[in-house]
Amino acid sequence: MIVAIDGPAGTGKSSTSRAVAGQLGLSYLDTGAQYRAMTWWMVSNGVDVSDPAAIAAAAGKPEIVSGTDPAGPAITVDGVDVAGPIRTQEVTSKVSAVSAVPEVRTRISRLQRSIAAAAEHGIVVEGRDIGTTVLPDAHVKIFLTASPEARAARRSGELKGVDLTATHEALIRRDAADSSRKASPLAKAADAIEVDTTELTLQQVVECVVTLVEEKRAAK
Ligand code: DC
Repeated sequence: MIVAIDGPAGTGKSSTSRAVAGQLGLSYLDTGAQYRAMTWWMVSNGVDVSDPAAIAAAAGKPEIVSGTDPAGPAITVDGVDVAGPIRTQEVTSKVSAVSAVPEVRTRISRLQRSIAAAAEHGIVVEGRDIGTTVLPDAHVKIFLTASPEARAARRSGELKGVDLTATHEALIRRDAADSSRKASPLAKAADAIEVDTTELTLQQVVECVVTLVEEKRAAK
């Protein structure tokens, strides 16, 4: 059972994906964390992230290892635990530029497919291009949306003390960059089910996705 959950930032993708995987006994993969880990490595090694050729040349170097336990997703780069450092403002502001480079996407997509293939009991994979490009044969595809206001409010709630207007603007900028890049942009797959989470609680979204997966399992 492969479940692809895509959508822009702040729609509740991570919380939903982890809870669904936990409830159904599936593995979990946060693909955004992998792009963040790649970005963290570029920044830490002095690669100019405004230079796509420099990023492309270095894309094969970092060794990114992702854990798949929904209760405690782990990520290391060259053996270093980067779960904290990949969430900084600096990485967040640079991740769209790094993830737009085709060489980065090819390497990380390959890693994602091998992790999904190795998940014995199935996996929930969250990202931007999972249903369209990485795992187009996923059994269930969900596309989460929410109003920009709701997304910014959720993000600034997560990052305490951060200004709401600045969060809103940064989020809109990142979505625009992720949606307009040439290589596998953020997009809803034709066969994905869209769930607008603006007026829903996390529990309601989780219930909705769990029901969709169970219906699919029963029909198999
Ligand atoms: O989900 P997130 O905010 O942690 O993702 C960080 C960035 O990674 C996002 O702005 C775009 C990129 N990303 C991507 O290009 N493809 C994915 N499948 C997941 C994330």
